[in-house]
Amino acid sequence: MQGRLRVPGDKSISHRAIMLGAIAEGETAISGFLEGADALATLGAFRGMGVRIEGPDRGEVRVRGVGLEGLEMPEGPLDMGNSGTSMRLLAGLLAGQTFPATLIGDASLTRRPMRRVTEPLALMGARIGTSEQGTAPLTIAPTNGLTGIDYRMPVASAQVKSSLLLAGLYASGETCVTEPAPTRDHTERMLAAFGYPVRRAADRVCVTGGGRLVGCRLQIPGDISSAAFFLVGASIAPGSDLTLEGVGMNPTRVGVINILRAMGADIEVVDQRTAGGEPVADLRVRSADLKGIAIPVDQVPLAIDEFPAIFIAAAFAAGETLLRGAEELRVKESDRIQVMADGLGVLGVRAEPLADGIRIQGGLIGAGTVESHGDHRIAMAFAIAGLRAAGPIEVRDCANVETSFPGFASLAAGVGLPIQELRP
Ligand code: S3P
Repeated sequence: MQGRLRVPGDKSISHRAIMLGAIAEGETAISGFLEGADALATLGAFRGMGVRIEGPDRGEVRVRGVGLEGLEMPEGPLDMGNSGTSMRLLAGLLAGQTFPATLIGDASLTRRPMRRVTEPLALMGARIGTSEQGTAPLTIAPTNGLTGIDYRMPVASAQVKSSLLLAGLYASGETCVTEPAPTRDHTERMLAAFGYPVRRAADRVCVTGGGRLVGCRLQIPGDISSAAFFLVGASIAPGSDLTLEGVGMNPTRVGVINILRAMGADIEVVDQRTAGGEPVADLRVRSADLKGIAIPVDQVPLAIDEFPAIFIAAAFAAGETLLRGAEELRVKESDRIQVMADGLGVLGVRAEPLADGIRIQGGLIGAGTVESHGDHRIAMAFAIAGLRAAGPIEVRDCANVETSFPGFASLAAGVGLPIQELRP
């Protein structure tokens, strides 16, 4: 892989930019917005609640904020598509409204656990119905008033933390969330950028309801989760020298760099700067001989979305890679432990799924046809494996690459990975 490229805007930050822009007073001008289906589902939901939003036009979006109390009742259910972030964060934000709302999603999202947000939101006084299995559709009743809570999360989840903080904007008193391990802190940073006071100490973050957000300008960095495919691709492909421009380097997101470096990757961080309250840098990556490692457990939440790509690095590395403490991977867009183990197995790699991780024996990857189960990151991970596999890899069910990385195939082709799109 050779050359320079810019990956699309950060998905997590794009969601939050629309949400906070919508409930702020005044206009918010966003650049670098991710025009992928997930962030567009969030955008569509706020349009459905009466917020005027211009764009997106080449990443530029203008949100005319309606203030904390200005959202209107949507006409029908709000469709979150494949996006867990949209559904879980909106559950918190909508819990504080005086109108009812229903959140629905696609087959994958409808299988994902929602009690992790509905239970603590109920402690605040929210009334949210789920299926018997604790899944979507979520039916959110109008609030009689929320009350702040002091909540210790059982899982390290930025979505749960953010959902509670957004409900906390509408609650009386203080809402505090303590996390068992650091998770992405984009909500906290962005609330501060909108002028909303946030108190943070070590593993705890608190907001007090009844404040106001003021519209602002936001520049969204490139998504390190999308960059991850190219960090791995350039590392495994011989003769690579690839620069990824303007990648978000938030310390709660850089686990993939730490893990790949521990495996021997040659990743240089160039021109560190700050954009829109978030650290950003260019990343230069060259081919390297990778070796298997035991992945440090403290890196797991910091790389939670990057494991499909990291498993491909492990499959080409010398020796064994062991991941533990990552049971959350089983409840992502697919069961990423099982689906990756199955696909690697098809390609001739010894990959043993564990309840909370995986054991991968590195070596060579063969040709074959793998199933992505409609999971965007699984599809892109196996596409990248094609850079050094013994023959072509066919990946099935790839349409959802659009959720996080529109233009992936053409961007990859431009730096040396020809991907042929087969239409069903
Ligand atoms: C996200 C948090 C993570 C991550 C997801 C995006 C966010 O989920 O996997 O892709 O934007 O807050 P969890 O909070 O469930 O770990």
